[in-house]
Amino acid sequence: MANRPSLQDYIEDVTDIITSSLLDIIPSAWDVPVHLKESMTYSLLAGGKRLRPLLVIAACEAMGGNRDAAIDAACSVEMVHTYSLIHDDLPAMDNDDYRRGKLTNHKVYGEAMAILAGDGLLTHAFFHLAQISRKYSIPADQVLAIISDLSEMAGPRGMVGGQVADMEGEQGLTDLSQLEYIHLHKTSDLIIFSLVAGGRIAGADEDSIEALRSFGHRLGLAFQIQDDILDLIGDEAKLGKKTQSDVKQDKVTYPYFIGLEKSQMEVARLTEEAKKIVLDARIPHPELLLEIADYLVSRDH
Ligand code: IPE
Ligand code: IPE
Ligand code: MG
Ligand code: MG
Ligand code: MG
Repeated sequence: MANRPSLQDYIEDVTDIITSSLLDIIPSAWDVPVHLKESMTYSLLAGGKRLRPLLVIAACEAMGGNRDAAIDAACSVEMVHTYSLIHDDLPAMDNDDYRRGKLTNHKVYGEAMAILAGDGLLTHAFFHLAQISRKYSIPADQVLAIISDLSEMAGPRGMVGGQVADMEGEQGLTDLSQLEYIHLHKTSDLIIFSLVAGGRIAGADEDSIEALRSFGHRLGLAFQIQDDILDLIGDEAKLGKKTQSDVKQDKVTYPYFIGLEKSQMEVARLTEEAKKIVLDARIPHPELLLEIADYLVSRDH
């Protein structure tokens, strides 16, 4: 691609587009209780890296697709991700007070509203996704495949299953392969979904979809190991959330098992594996995906 923007500019562009699309994600004509709308919007617009939207759009463009429909799918996965964070922070789960540099949803709106805001974001994500067929003339079976992927990867076999395994994990009992299950599902699945959805919107063939899936698998594991590392040695101001949350709750993490240095090496190894998958696949414009992979290894928030 000639005159490709720098990754930094690309990320800023995507972040701006997603934030402004999320601003009016709930149709203004809908009769929705004010506090519910406020609580949903509070967490959606609190910031965040917008990594999953970035991956949807980058995968779509890497496959030569048009970004318009990808933006709507990107908003849907950001809604699912944001719901997962609101629930993850609840006292019954990780019991955290800060997220995205602000008080967590339940600290502001109370636990009942936080649960319902999460429920609202999850269901609205599917409503929003279902509209893209008509809105952008995308074949209905392609949209059905995306909806089916999201329900699988956000559901019991995906992110929710991973969160349960995380919750049930116990130091001394959980082994490294079980930790891989936790990371794969609580985190990689939405990352895989994002890449595959971008590919599907671009009309990618099955081989390319498979490559995006394998790329996302490695990238997601690396991303969660880095999250565990940053929980130990990260800067709270940059992260926008408290560190030492895993230690406080005796969580099973990669640094717990193999130490900090080996965890960092594992992030680098998985990233190289991920990049090789993209390089070996027939992806028309792989550069951005490769740059994103490198950027994530060195992230500090
Ligand atoms: C945090 O995700 C939860 C994990 C799955 C590790 P992010 O680090 O992407 O959080 P935001 O979206 O930037 O707030
Ligand atoms: C959260 O993992 C994963 C999901 C929300 C699905 P963590 O509990 O490690 O995420 P943080 O560290 O609170 O962001
Ligand atoms: Mg958690
Ligand atoms: Mg947490
Ligand atoms: Mg964490």
